[in-house]
Amino acid sequence: MRVLVASDHGGFELKQLLVTRLHGLGHEVIDLGTHGQAPVDYPDFAHALAARLLAGDGERGVLACGTGIGVSIAANRHPGVRAALCHDALTAEMARRHNDANVLCLGGRTIGPAVALQALEIFLATPFDGGRHAGRVAAIEPKGESK
Ligand code: RB5
Repeated sequence: MRVLVASDHGGFELKQLLVTRLHGLGHEVIDLGTHGQAPVDYPDFAHALAARLLAGDGERGVLACGTGIGVSIAANRHPGVRAALCHDALTAEMARRHNDANVLCLGGRTIGPAVALQALEIFLATPFDGGRHAGRVAAIEPKGESK
């Protein structure tokens, strides 16, 4: 799978870990930064990743900031992006099964590395359940903006 990855400084350390694991699992990674610990603004990275995802440059996205909150709010401003702030394996699994989330958001300062890596692996491996969830997911986009 081709996976787009981005973070701000608060998620930088976690992003590096996620990139290493993604490579280890054989995924293709497009790392959109940030590339160091210097303070940056999380919306810039969330918007860049959302735009690349919607352009078809990756099948899934992974975003990290200090809490995962800022990047999820920003990414979800893009119709067609379903960014899920997840805290563990269960939320990552349900984000895929019920919400067909295409972007995983994680907090570099709120969850530990082992839990984050487990969430990542489950997010990428879990299919959408479809069925009764399909209409609900379609109804997420405000009328006239569906994608
Ligand atoms: C940066 O200090 C922090 O605000 C950011 O990483 C994120 O947690 C915002 O939601």
